Amino acid sequence: MNARTTGSLYAISDLHVSYADNRDLVDRLEPESDDDWLLVGGDVADLFGDVERTLKLLRGRFGTVVWAPGNHELWSHPSDPVQLRGTRRYEALVRMCQDNGVLTPEDPYPVWTGPDGPVVVASLFLLYDYSFRAPGTRTKEESLSKAYDAGVVCTDEMLLHPDPYPDRESWCWDRVARTETKLAAIDPALPTVLLSHWPLLRQPTDVLWYPEFAQWCGTERTADWHLRFRAAAAVYGHLHIPRTTHYDGVRFEEVSLGYPREWGRRGGPPLMPRRILAGAP
Ligand SMILES: [Fe+2]
Ligand SMILES: [Fe+2]
Repeated sequence: MNARTTGSLYAISDLHVSYADNRDLVDRLEPESDDDWLLVGGDVADLFGDVERTLKLLRGRFGTVVWAPGNHELWSHPSDPVQLRGTRRYEALVRMCQDNGVLTPEDPYPVWTGPDGPVVVASLFLLYDYSFRAPGTRTKEESLSKAYDAGVVCTDEMLLHPDPYPDRESWCWDRVARTETKLAAIDPALPTVLLSHWPLLRQPTDVLWYPEFAQWCGTERTADWHLRFRAAAAVYGHLHIPRTTHYDGVRFEEVSLGYPREWGRRGGPPLMPRRILAGAP
């Protein structure tokens, strides 16, 4: 067990630093204490080099940084000098994090030992499997074709390659199975904070403006994980709808920064990052 942590546990996601306004905000992001933890819930940037620069900067400021990948890190963007695809891209991102002292879903889960601790902080990489289907559809094919008809198609269809899996849902199902085994091995006496880019259950997507987008937002296979794995809080992003909600008595925190036009509409940049667990006073 670690020595007692005095810092707080903070979280943020969807930094999208390819936007200059977001980069400026991230450049000014400071912890309250050197001992604070920062959970980064994916969509840091589209380009590999930008992801590395940003995580390195944050690791230089926060005592502990834990990252979970979003769909944007996994894109093979035509303008990215790093053209790796699928699992090879993910593995390269993990190595880059490890070289920079940032924790990933592939590392042993760290334990936060602040006043409300000990709490196991589990970073999850799960992806989605199109099971959050569009309203009125029964199969993935129907759901996708409804999205194409509505003109609401996630860019992942073009840029997030599942290699060597045949499709993104197969990759998702493999990630879910491996992650479930790892979570089941946690000491059952300890609560968790579950960090993932995509929400663990469907309800958070009910407020999407375009319901067809939900199929790129998660998998029904994790619908009871917040209960099974004793979540004190489930932290996610991807929806760009920052808010706090409760499901089955468990706190869910959507911690997106989102695009400048989105936070601009809300009257300016949000107070960030969000405090998930408070450190010692
Ligand atoms: Fe995002
Ligand atoms: Fe995303």
